[in-house]
Amino acid sequence: MSVILTTTGVTKSYRMGPNILEVLRGVDFAVEAGDFVAMVGASGSGKSTFLHILGALDNPDKGDVVFEGQNIARLGRGRLNEYRNRSVGFVFQFYHLLDELDVVENTVLPAMVTSGVLGWPARRGPARQRAIELLRRFGLGERLRHKPYQLSGGERQRVSIARALMNRPTLLLADEPTGNLDSKTGNDILNVLEGLNREGQTILLVTHDDRIARRAHRIVRLADGRMVADRMQ
Ligand SMILES: Nc1ncnc2c1ncn2[C@@H]1O[C@H](COP(=O)(O)OP(=O)(O)OP(=O)(O)O)[C@@H](O)[C@H]1O
Ligand SMILES: [Mg+2]
Repeated sequence: MSVILTTTGVTKSYRMGPNILEVLRGVDFAVEAGDFVAMVGASGSGKSTFLHILGALDNPDKGDVVFEGQNIARLGRGRLNEYRNRSVGFVFQFYHLLDELDVVENTVLPAMVTSGVLGWPARRGPARQRAIELLRRFGLGERLRHKPYQLSGGERQRVSIARALMNRPTLLLADEPTGNLDSKTGNDILNVLEGLNREGQTILLVTHDDRIARRAHRIVRLADGRMVADRMQ
């Protein structure tokens, strides 16, 4: 299989007054096309920090993130936005949906950002159609005009997965997508992710839950600032 993304020696520290908190101390990691990787680790071990660095939502202090042969630290502003918006899709634990927008409008947002104001009128129709297809597929066909606050947690998370997939990202990054849901609803979300992976979607999933992690192809653990293969496998 071909490698999509590699990190080498990624470090990240936070200065808190006189103290320096070393969160990532040289993380080496790789994801291959078609992979379904679960990342586990204690609370505070740096899982979200690492995922944000992979999604270019945060910068490492040192080390490299190389995506399809390109070091993302060397991308200019425009290319970096394109990377954030097209190459990776991000699913957050607390959804981050916009309450003023309905389900379809939330889902098309990444396409709107990509096409820009001038390009949007021509893109709008096909983008809405793709959004509606994704939403129907995730069982939200009857919720298209709902606002996020009118949805259950599991429904919100399905909208946020649809939004993350809108621009057909090469890599889907999901930070505890089931962390805020009951186990049945969490299981439904996992079924959605498994279905996507079977169709070829590459996924990196952060989870606290060992049972969920075991459903991935591969489990990695962040511990003491480094990535290690997990013993559970
Ligand atoms: N902006 C920040 N300033 C200072 N410290 C931070 C900052 N962001 C994160 N940290 C610290 O870095 C550590 C790692 O945080 P992170 O959110 O990556 O952990 P996590 O593994 O995702 O934990 P959880 O499982 O609880 O979500 C934590 O101890 C946290 O307090
Ligand atoms: Mg976290």
